[in-house]
Amino acid sequence: MAERYAVIGHPVSHSKSPGIHRAFARATGQDIEYVALEAPLDGFSRALDAFRANQGKGANVTLPFKEQALAYCTGCAGRISERALRAGAVNTLSFEGGHCQGDNTDGAGLVRDLTRNLGVALQAKRVLLMGAGGAARGVVQPLLEEGVARLVVVNRTAARARQLADRFPGVVGCGYKDLPAEGFDVVVNATSAGLKGELPELPAACFGPGAFAYDMVYGRETPFMAFARQRGAQVSDGIGMLVEQAAESFRIWRGILPDTAPVLADLRRQSA
Ligand code: ATR
Repeated sequence: MAERYAVIGHPVSHSKSPGIHRAFARATGQDIEYVALEAPLDGFSRALDAFRANQGKGANVTLPFKEQALAYCTGCAGRISERALRAGAVNTLSFEGGHCQGDNTDGAGLVRDLTRNLGVALQAKRVLLMGAGGAARGVVQPLLEEGVARLVVVNRTAARARQLADRFPGVVGCGYKDLPAEGFDVVVNATSAGLKGELPELPAACFGPGAFAYDMVYGRETPFMAFARQRGAQVSDGIGMLVEQAAESFRIWRGILPDTAPVLADLRRQSA
């Protein structure tokens, strides 16, 4: 019988995760079923309990429940990975053998997309990370582990950037107006500004020569992407991060890291 997995969010009907995981399963010969489950805003743990009672083997968690998923694991004395603890959020739950395990694959997804798919080396690079919410928090440690020379976190609410930066030695946090006058090699947008068609107050000088600009938002050209393009940066949206974080979740559940290239190529064709 097919083993059951789901993505749980609110809203979730737009999620590309079911299509991505089904494609991985076909390609690797794994017999799984993967559905999208919308939980009520006040009913995340109830929805999860019901899914587990119904033979659910694992779940991806998306907005706005990633922090609640961490609390859920803590509540049932589940094992939480170091990277999920660092991120303060869980996006991958496993229920193998009745035990709950929480992990976070978002940071690995970003790093793999940058380094493997887009050919952007991070070692010894100056990186600017925009945003200090859940999306930004999940990628700080994975970026540091790539050996970046410098990591600056910039946020509209400067205090949040400083708070996030203070948890990691050597990371600097500030507001847009206090950004050091220097060009960065890689600028990652982890804000939700693009979803509202807004552009953070980013100085044009932040893009160094040959800079790479990455927006975690996908499926649209955000004002940040247009701004970076105009300043001569190479640009990517976040569709590859989505596929790579999914591949890492699939590996956790099924023990096989699927080839992401065909799935990513399909998604890019569909959105072209
Ligand atoms: P998520 O979990 O997706 O990161 P979040 O915690 O609501 O969501 O964080 C959204 C991030 O986008 C925050 O860093 C937010 O800045 P504030 O901390 O100042 O709120 C940032 N953001 C949203 N709209 C923005 C805008 N128009 N300009 C700059 N930053 C913006």
